[in-house]
Order: sequence, then C-alpha cells, then structure tokens
Amino acid sequence: DLIDEIKKLEEHFTVDTAKLKEITEHFINELTKGLSVEGGSIPMNPTWCMAMPTGEEQGTFLALDMGGTNLRVCEIILTDQKSEFDIIQSKYRMPEELKTGDADELWEYVADCLQQFVEAHHPGENLDKMHLGFTFSYPATQDYIDHGVLQRWTKGFDISGVEGENVVPMFEAAIARRGVPIKLTALINDTTGTLIASAYTDTKMKIGCIFGTGCNAAYFENTGSIPKLAHMKLPPDTPMAINCEWGAFDNEHKVLPRTPYDIIIDKDSPRPGQQAFEKMIAGLYLGELFRLVLVNLHDNEGVHIFEGQNIDKLRKAYTLDSSFLSLVEEDPFENLSETADLFQNKLSISPNRSELELIRRLAELIGTRAARLSACGVAAIAKKKGYESCHVGADGSVFNKYPHFKQRGAQALREILDWPEKKNQKEEDPIEILAAEDGSGVGAALIAALTLQRVKDGN
Ligand code: BG6
Ligand code: GLC
Repeated sequence: DLIDEIKKLEEHFTVDTAKLKEITEHFINELTKGLSVEGGSIPMNPTWCMAMPTGEEQGTFLALDMGGTNLRVCEIILTDQKSEFDIIQSKYRMPEELKTGDADELWEYVADCLQQFVEAHHPGENLDKMHLGFTFSYPATQDYIDHGVLQRWTKGFDISGVEGENVVPMFEAAIARRGVPIKLTALINDTTGTLIASAYTDTKMKIGCIFGTGCNAAYFENTGSIPKLAHMKLPPDTPMAINCEWGAFDNEHKVLPRTPYDIIIDKDSPRPGQQAFEKMIAGLYLGELFRLVLVNLHDNEGVHIFEGQNIDKLRKAYTLDSSFLSLVEEDPFENLSETADLFQNKLSISPNRSELELIRRLAELIGTRAARLSACGVAAIAKKKGYESCHVGADGSVFNKYPHFKQRGAQALREILDWPEKKNQKEEDPIEILAAEDGSGVGAALIAALTLQRVKDGN
C-alpha cells in the first residue's frame, strides 16, 4: 500500500496559498532589482522593442524561430486590412547533436534552413534583401535591436563558442556565405514576440508568456523605471519591452520550495546554479522530475515500487518528456489502463494497481506545482505594474497541451490576488491568461516593421 508514500509526495510538491503569496512578493522585489544598476539574478533585459503595434503595420517579412524544439522559417505578409496577416511556414527538426555541438555547425544549419525556404518559395526570383525578425529565445544583452550577446545557454543547450558573443554577426556571416538575400532587422525573444503579436489583435494584452520547453515573460516598462538605462538619457516615459528571463528567479534559493529532485535536476544540468525557477516548472524538466521520483521509490524508499522488475529504461535521464506526463494525466479510465500501457510500451514496466495510483497522483502533483508557481511570475508583474485587469498572452507546448495547466494557473492567480469566487463560469477573471497569437512568426514580423518605422521616424 503506497498511501504513506503518496502523502510524502504531496508534502514535497504542494505549494499552498501562503507560499504562493510569499514567492510573489519576493518576485516583485527581484523584478525591480533586475532593472537596477547593480542588477539581480533575473536579467530583465531591455529589448529595444519600443512600441506596441497599432494594427496598421504593413509589409512582407521573414521570420526565423530558434526556440528549442523546432527551427521554423516563416514569411509573413502584414496586409492593409487592420490587424490581418497571411503566413506561410516550414518547420525543420533541430537535430539533438546540434544542441551540444559547436557554433559553426549551428549557424551553418540555420543558414541552410533559411536558404531552403527562400529557394522553395521564391525560385529563380531576383529578390531585394528581405527584412528578417530572428526569434532567438535565450537570454541576450542587447545594446540595440539588431545586436545580442548571449548571456548563457538555457533549456539544455550547450553549444561552444557562442556565450559572451554577439550572435548577429555569426548569423550574418553564415547567410552571406550562401548569398541568401536577407537583412536581419530585429533580434527578439519569443516572449516579446508573443506580447507584440497578441497586442496586435487585443489591446488589453499587457504581458507575453511562454510556458514551453522553457518558461519566461515580457512586458513594458517606461525607461524612467529602468535605472540601468539611465545613461542612455531617453525621455523617462519612453516605453521599452523587457524580456524578464524570469527562469533565473531565485537562483539564490531563498523562497522556492525545492525538493531533493529539483536539486538533482540542477546538479546534473549543463548549467548548475542557473534557471532555478525554470527547472521547477518548464516542460523540459517535468518528465525528468517524475522519472527521478520513480527511480528513487524503486531504489531507496522502503516501498520498492516495481519490485523485481527491470527498470533500466527508466534509468535513462530525460527519457520521459512532458507529453508522457500529459498522457498519464489524461488517462480517462478508472483502472488507469492507458497509463499501464504507456509504462509497458515505453519502459517495459508493469505497474500494479497501487503503483498506478501513485503514478497518476505524482503526475498531478508535478503538473499542478508547475502551473501554480508560474502564476507567481504573472502575479508579480501585474502587482509591480499595478495592472488590476488585463490579458496575458501565452504560448508554448505546456500551456497549449498540458492538461489542466490553464485552470490550475488561473486558480493560483485567484488565490494570490484574493479575487472573490466567480459567480458563474462565464464570468471573466480580472487578469486572464489566454492563448497567444504566433509570437515568433507574426510577432517577429511586427517588431521588424516597428523597427523600420522607428528608424524612418529618426528615433
Ligand atoms: C511556439 C513559439 O509556439 O512556442 C516559439 O512560436 C516558442 O517562439 C515556443 O519558443 C515555445 O514552446 P516550446 O514548447 O516549443 O518550447
Ligand atoms: C528560456 C530562455 C528564454 C525563453 C524561454 C521560453 O527561459 O532563456 O529566453 O524565452 O526559455 O522559450
């Protein structure tokens, strides 16, 4: 009987309302610290995206999305109809070896995909240089919008020769070697793209979030509230989108309720000590947390789950991704027969009835913790900015596909911000997290368009 083990797991993974509030308060301070001259652990990177779209933007743009799971190339036409666009796109696999290879291989591959796209969609055409928005979803220090020094790789990437370098000339050199007619106009983060793309069709949008392989958010500050930009002498009411890089929240381990499993994930990652918040909530890590708990219950705890079975397949790090956990949480059958099949097919393990119950509960606990902790970040930005009511645009595989993630996040926001219970299901919450428009396609195109406009206006 595994009831006691389940109780222990519940203690490890449950984050109650009081803790959510404590985390949110600390988060607000850390956001402010990140904007200061001394800085803090959250990078709070100014993006040089300095305006919301009006819906009147026009033109044809290319967009390149290098987020983690896929590499995507898009051509976007912002039409003369308000807030309307057409998009064509191709997805390319991001080969696993590339993520731990070297810089040249990366840029050659990226340039290859772009070349293929341009040749497929504009064969034989003599193109003028097309403006490209490059969504490079890693923390970068930007002195201007077509510049970005990679601070560090995140999301398990570990490509040598890029950290501490400006990625734009590397990208441009690879493109130039192939003679692809492209001009990089804006380097952006997926969160900024999500914010801008969502704001294009919804004026209530104030925050852009990604809940996917990684986890992060962007929102606007006035430069007067960004002491680390004071030396630029911009008018204090100049708007500036900030890419928070909130995955780095609490790298000092002051408030997050880390479990021994979170500590192992960190220690065994390519960048220990980094992305403490992200490692507890992002899609890349959810399946791994689940796996570590199960292995521990087999090896160490008195209960020895899966006793007598060969768990070699389960011992392989990162063998379960968050879609595996999604399937466990989605199992519609009372007897958890789909979960049993999953374990059999993927891991050659046959769990018994009480093991299946523990597996299901563990998935729920990990998924719920992720959604509830994410809400602290959203609540912190909203409180810092004094947003009592707004929309938050969200994208990423966890937000779009993980069962109950949205409802659990909404519930946590309600607890943190002390909203009264809804009178009926149709009633909107004051702050709603909604599925975003395609940030690294439309968002990248819009930011490129806004940049061209800003240059034309001489700002
Ligand atoms: C996509 C966006 O939909 O979501 C990307 O277009 C973003 O820009 C991605 O990086 C994040 O989700 P995931 O799950 O692929 O990390
Ligand atoms: C990681 C990256 C960040 C990105 C997020 C979501 O946190 O560092 O730049 O926005 O993942 O993709």
